[in-house]
Amino acid sequence: MASIKLLLANDKVEGIRYYEAYRKHGGYTAVEKALKTLTPDEVTEEVKKSGLRGRGGAGFPTGMKWSFLAKPEGIPRYLVCNADESEPGTFKDRYLMEFIPHLLVEGMIVSSYALGANTSYIYIRGEYAWIVNILEQAIAEAKQNGWLGKNILGTGFDHEIYVQRGAGAYICGEETALLESLEGKRGNPRIKPPFPAVKGLWDSPTVVNNVETIAAVVPIMNHGAEEYAKIGVGRSTGTKLISACGNINKPGVYEIDMTISVEEFIYSDEYCGGIPKGKRLKACIPGGSSVPIVPANLLFKTAKGETRYMNYESLSDGGFETGTMMGSGGFIVFDEDQCVVRHTMTLAHFYNHESCGQCSPCREGTGWMYKILKNIEYGKGKMSDIDLLWDIQRKIEGNTICPLGDAAAWPVAAAIRHFRDEFEWHVTHPEECLTRNFGLAHYADERLIPA
Ligand SMILES: Cc1cc2nc3c(=O)[nH]c(=O)nc-3n(C[C@H](O)[C@H](O)[C@H](O)COP(=O)(O)O)c2cc1C
Repeated sequence: MASIKLLLANDKVEGIRYYEAYRKHGGYTAVEKALKTLTPDEVTEEVKKSGLRGRGGAGFPTGMKWSFLAKPEGIPRYLVCNADESEPGTFKDRYLMEFIPHLLVEGMIVSSYALGANTSYIYIRGEYAWIVNILEQAIAEAKQNGWLGKNILGTGFDHEIYVQRGAGAYICGEETALLESLEGKRGNPRIKPPFPAVKGLWDSPTVVNNVETIAAVVPIMNHGAEEYAKIGVGRSTGTKLISACGNINKPGVYEIDMTISVEEFIYSDEYCGGIPKGKRLKACIPGGSSVPIVPANLLFKTAKGETRYMNYESLSDGGFETGTMMGSGGFIVFDEDQCVVRHTMTLAHFYNHESCGQCSPCREGTGWMYKILKNIEYGKGKMSDIDLLWDIQRKIEGNTICPLGDAAAWPVAAAIRHFRDEFEWHVTHPEECLTRNFGLAHYADERLIPA
């Protein structure tokens, strides 16, 4: 099927990073259309009709989120763009901001107009330092050309965008921790409710949206909500950016129509291009490190035997027992030589390091899981450790202020659920744990997909 490009239609055009080329290729027509021909409520209505869902991970309907925004008289409202992108395996927002920064700026202006926000912020992960300069240049160019500032296009709408760098904390991607950090405080998540739509940045009504979500508002304006909603399937409308990495021939950022199958995405030359060296496929984490790992035998077909597609509904078919999640679209592929125990240990280390420490189940539980996984991985584990790990993750999930606890628990649960024998093998083969390379294909055979 011919691929549909909405966000990356012009990413290879020379100079598209700069205003002149961006404008020449249709840039800022979405601002013109929204500000000159639609009221803010009509823009929100279009976004609702488009079926756009948040691309930051949770997939919450964007238009609905916008309509929750409180609008008390005399109190400013804010749009905050979540460009923290710290989820392991996810690097799609980086691509968008680095190569087509004006798409985000344009989306910010249209979205802010819909929300009645005169000030908006792009909160970007600290490690993306060089992209801050790219964004600031794009904002300056937009301002020079009359798309930002006072009385934009003579409509009476004023708007300014500011870029704020984070300081390297994954937790600051959680929207309320992000707001704390933006206010200059330690990035601890807030207890909800109140939700940011009522009490957000500096206690004012605030919408927090992902980079890709905000950028998608531009094609929705340009093509119309109805045309946008025709792309994709069911409640997975429009296109989705996927950052693909791991054991694939062509790692990179791809824009997909959410009707393609997972098999096509992995093996077609247009996307991942298959597994290197003709190796077999063992497993995949399709939505960033927090979502459950799925063994290859459940990746191309659901438990019901139906084809699995690259969309929200199909990827989660079967729940956590046999399915997974679309998440943020960080697609990580494992070939037959990868060790699930080692991988789970690495992730547990990450979540333990990134836990803000406010909630005991997360603060203590993530460290405890990492310690046990390290023991198992290095041949010092006991069989009872596997059940202990299971119990700990159960006690973290749902028992913390923010979903970082869930994000730490799910990878451990899925690894044990699908690859328990691999954990047991580590316990019964302590010597090999220290000396082998991590080729473990021999005991996961029934789950492998041949090249
Ligand atoms: C620990 C943690 C990290 C997160 N990191 C990000 C992130 O880097 N980028 C992002 O857009 N959303 C992230 N989220 C989700 C945000 O809290 C929020 O749901 C999202 O920014 C909303 O935007 P959307 O509706 O456009 O998806 C994270 C959530 C958690 C719990």
